[in-house]
Amino acid sequence: MCGIVGYIGAREAFPVILKGLERLEYRGYDSAGIALYNKGIIELCKTKGKVADLRAKADKEGVVNGSIGIGHTRWATHGEPNDQNAHPHYSNSGDLAIIHNGIIENYASIKEALINRGYEFHSDTDTEVLVNLIEDVKTNENVKLGKAVQIALNQVVGAYAIAVFDRTKPDEIVVAKLGSPLAIGVGEDEFFIASDASPFIEYTNNAIYLEDEQMAIVKRGRDVRVRQVRSDKPVNPYVQELKMNLEQIEKGGYDHFMLKEIYEQPEAIKDTYRGRLRINDGIVKMAGVEDNLGKFLNAKRIIIVACGTSWHAGLVAEYIFEELMRIPVEVEYASEFRYRNPVITQDDVVIAISQSGETADTLAAIKLSKEKGAFVFGVCNVVGSSISRETHAGAYTHAGPEIGVASTKAFTTQITVLTLIALKLAKSTGKITHSEFHNYLAELETIPVKVQETLKTDAHVATIADIYKDATNCLYLGRGYNFPVALEGALKLKEISYIHAEGYPAAEMKHGPIALIDEQMPVVVIATKKGHYEKVVSNVQEIKSRKGKIIAVVTQGDKDVSKLADHVIEVPETHELLTPLLTTIPLQLLSYHIAVMRGCNVDQPRNLAKSVTVE
Ligand code: M6R
Repeated sequence: MCGIVGYIGAREAFPVILKGLERLEYRGYDSAGIALYNKGIIELCKTKGKVADLRAKADKEGVVNGSIGIGHTRWATHGEPNDQNAHPHYSNSGDLAIIHNGIIENYASIKEALINRGYEFHSDTDTEVLVNLIEDVKTNENVKLGKAVQIALNQVVGAYAIAVFDRTKPDEIVVAKLGSPLAIGVGEDEFFIASDASPFIEYTNNAIYLEDEQMAIVKRGRDVRVRQVRSDKPVNPYVQELKMNLEQIEKGGYDHFMLKEIYEQPEAIKDTYRGRLRINDGIVKMAGVEDNLGKFLNAKRIIIVACGTSWHAGLVAEYIFEELMRIPVEVEYASEFRYRNPVITQDDVVIAISQSGETADTLAAIKLSKEKGAFVFGVCNVVGSSISRETHAGAYTHAGPEIGVASTKAFTTQITVLTLIALKLAKSTGKITHSEFHNYLAELETIPVKVQETLKTDAHVATIADIYKDATNCLYLGRGYNFPVALEGALKLKEISYIHAEGYPAAEMKHGPIALIDEQMPVVVIATKKGHYEKVVSNVQEIKSRKGKIIAVVTQGDKDVSKLADHVIEVPETHELLTPLLTTIPLQLLSYHIAVMRGCNVDQPRNLAKSVTVE
């Protein structure tokens, strides 16, 4: 969590950094700050609150000039969100300024040792400890900033992406990374530092992504020197050309990123299967799977690890893989899996799903699986992310940047990729016939149009949202492929509107949740045709007899559920296995409208951050 930005070059650094921080606010937004070098001093402006509050404060106090600077938007770990704990932090001499994304786990013992040596602390953060440790090394060992950073980092345990500069030598910024992302934008005689490429994409398409335990000295108007933190070995930096453009990371006329991303799904799903789904050739082309076909085909079990929405996509994949491939699948919360000494063997294929590719628990689950000899395949959205680098092979979702904290297009594109993998493997093993394979592919190709049609329910969904916006609880029910969709619908509602919501397999209702149902309780039921339709109709009847308010997501033309439900939202008919790609859309819209009507900050819900890079 936390977003970091830095600039060194000929431009005014302040506007570059401020705009960069706005783009990185998805990573944390409880306080923000900027430090700039200006004529021999470091000018600091920081505040509790969002980047907008920082902008207002800087306007009031007078914007500082400077062509080297660092900025930070915070998601608190150590110390509550307030002005003192906001980054950047100074060292005691006032010479060094630092920003940090991550956690220094052994900060308490280092702090104690520094206090014994006369250092004073003005915040509760682990970051202020780190900058003083760097200063202590620099002074005592009489070394330059780069060397001091390296020595200090060899003493810390934890995770970091840092940028630090020295008032007495304002022609360089030293950066380093372990566990948290850090990219360096390489422009003409100027460099940008950021947690991802969005802050610098309008200035340059060239970027260096540091690997874990690498550091770099970024020299004004010169070059970037990369080294290994542990061994001090120089590394030849690989400059990547980025495909992202500015339009993709702006709101494009929508009120919120979440709504934009909901509406991007037809195109995002198409982008996911583009070049992979080749109906005319009768194949699914996926290099990451083809190169490792033996691993997949010899696997005795598939274990899926993920968190949050990605975990829900994993649950949908469990149903799809078991149906098409007839192989046992287990879906694990990465946070539980990594700590419970799970049984993993060389016969397992582990699939790690993550939009950001930076989720700390998922990353740890991957490392554990690799240690135990499993083959690990990643499904990520962010190109070059830690998870995409840590896994043996993988497939990108190609959804484009997802900025809204609530995941939407990431979910549907993850399901699309996982469906393609399952189809490819089922075809290779002969578990499905050529004609079944062909029918699935043909149907998958119709999904973007059907999602587009489903999006036309938006206005109708908004009227339903208006009726239930003041609800205090909400139940979501689904069966089979749509049980994970019920979980996802409930997660969307609670995370952006703060209404308590539960997702359940519809049949489980009788085992407890039915006690909650009365005339105040909205119950969202996914009741599409096929699968367990009749059973769901019975569940709807049970809710009706207890006076619950039913919002049903049904297949176009449905009669039975429509007779019973208070509100009906129709989605086009598709193959049962593909229904989550459609049924999830109205649930995203419902939570979006309810949150907007309740005056919630949809794109930046309280207490959350887009990528959870701490455990
Ligand atoms: O980046 P990841 O997919 O690994 O993130 C996992 C979860 O943190 C994420 O899905 C989270 O639950 C979203 N806020 C859900 O909308």
